[in-house]
Amino acid sequence: MALIVTRRASDSLSSEITPPHVFHNRRDFIKTAGLSLLAGAATASGLFSINAEAAVQRQKIAGFSKSSYGADEKLTPYEDVTTYNNYYEFGTGKNDPAHEALLFKPTPWTVSIEGAVKKAKQISIEDIFKIAPLQERIYRMRCVEGWSMVIPWVGFPLADLIKCAEPTGNAKYVEFISLADERSMPRVRVPILDWPYTEGLRMDEAMNPLTIMAVGLYGEMLPNQNGAPMRLVVPWKYGFKGAKAIVKIRFTDKMPQTTWMKAGPNEYGFYANVNPEVDHPRWTQSSERRIGGGLFSPRIKTKMFNGYAEQVAQLYTGMDLRKNY
Ligand code: MTE
Repeated sequence: MALIVTRRASDSLSSEITPPHVFHNRRDFIKTAGLSLLAGAATASGLFSINAEAAVQRQKIAGFSKSSYGADEKLTPYEDVTTYNNYYEFGTGKNDPAHEALLFKPTPWTVSIEGAVKKAKQISIEDIFKIAPLQERIYRMRCVEGWSMVIPWVGFPLADLIKCAEPTGNAKYVEFISLADERSMPRVRVPILDWPYTEGLRMDEAMNPLTIMAVGLYGEMLPNQNGAPMRLVVPWKYGFKGAKAIVKIRFTDKMPQTTWMKAGPNEYGFYANVNPEVDHPRWTQSSERRIGGGLFSPRIKTKMFNGYAEQVAQLYTGMDLRKNY
């Protein structure tokens, strides 16, 4: 987030042609997952250009319910949600992931569920789609860097996935581990962070109905740069909690060390609750800039728990949230 890395021209992905297997594999996955493919027109021309790939990536998700969560919020435009990203495996610049993750293949995909559970398992992304009915959740997202967005996610409560694994009494925390594949994620070769990207939640935070596993946004499959095929979304915490491209979910009795805690223990805590009263050591957290609102849009006041206090404040009763940042 606040690490500066020099970008070399030779690091860029030079492919301008989408190899047919990328296209075909993605199509197979969409068929298996029972999702409707809307991008046929762009690819029917036979031109496997970047534009075609971009079009292929925009696939409608069939069969999710609209929810009332956040329905009164003004959405951040799709363009901004998908081109202003933090995803260090694909670069540290905000625009990098949209380009560098273009050829990333989120299929086939298997998630390992392990640790303190009765039913440890390897579960395919196709089966994850069947765990619970998909819903739209419009959430305000607040980044620790001081900007925010309103995103219509498509996903399902993480609690439903957890219940399938039958956690034991030793499951006090859940650790989320992202893919770290040097071949498909160019920046994993660079030690900017301690790979793989790892995040964690306390069990009751993970089970809270607001916590979701997102598989899509704006009614479409999750774009690569936003964490395809599956990422965590915890709207009352700073955005870095939302591990992308998750391959492992591990239940433990000890608080996991997360990537950002290791990178800057004084700056990024385990809890990472949005708290306007606790400044980041290098900047204020009392206000935020809404992305997509234009250069001159005024900063808005940041709310405790990002405005979700009613649903989550009770999780932290008796805790000093200045210490447990
Ligand atoms: N997950 C992985 N694997 N790698 C990352 O670099 N960045 C985090 C989080 N998840 C990150 C990640 C940070 S700092 C933020 S703010 C959010 O993803 C950004 O999500 P978005 O790009 O979909 O808005």
